[in-house]
Amino acid sequence: MDAREESPAPATSPPVIHPAVVPLSFLLGTWRGQGEGGFPTINSFSYGEELIFSHSPNKPVIGYTQKTWKLSSGEPMHGESGYWRPKPDGTIEVVIAQSNGLVEVQKGIYSFEENVIQLQSEMVGNASKMATNTVTLQPHLKATLKKL
Ligand code: HEM
Repeated sequence: MDAREESPAPATSPPVIHPAVVPLSFLLGTWRGQGEGGFPTINSFSYGEELIFSHSPNKPVIGYTQKTWKLSSGEPMHGESGYWRPKPDGTIEVVIAQSNGLVEVQKGIYSFEENVIQLQSEMVGNASKMATNTVTLQPHLKATLKKL
């Protein structure tokens, strides 16, 4: 039997963005830029970063993938992927799996009017690398990205 006979007809209507995702639809697409990293215990470095936000029609969730690379050599660095889950009440949760073995949940709020999203790490799992006895919590990375 020809498998194609069982395939559904191709969709002819345009993809529908789920109402929960509409306020954050400005994210959808590819963002790229660069930044600086550092920590008292490591050498400072410059890195490139790319984010891709995608959306499956009618699902209340945004797919997210991120990768970084050394600006000096192009060598891959950290990568992560997950889902951004906006709620109609203006709150949002983000679940992420990281290439360094960590899993993370971030929660926060978004503003449709100002295109601002504020997230705070709520949970980090499998985090043996996070244990730093010598250094207090402080910034590690700062980058600026633009949508392509
Ligand atoms: C939430 C994400 C991240 C966490 C929790 C994290 C955490 C850490 C920690 C705890 C260290 C060890 C510091 C020490 O040795 O005292 C470290 C080192 C380092 N991080 Fe990150 N980091 C993250 C993301 C990234 C990203 C996105 C990059 C690259 C753009 C990066 C690049 C580095 C580099 C180059 C080092 C030093 C060398 C190494 O240990 O691999 N990190 N990070």
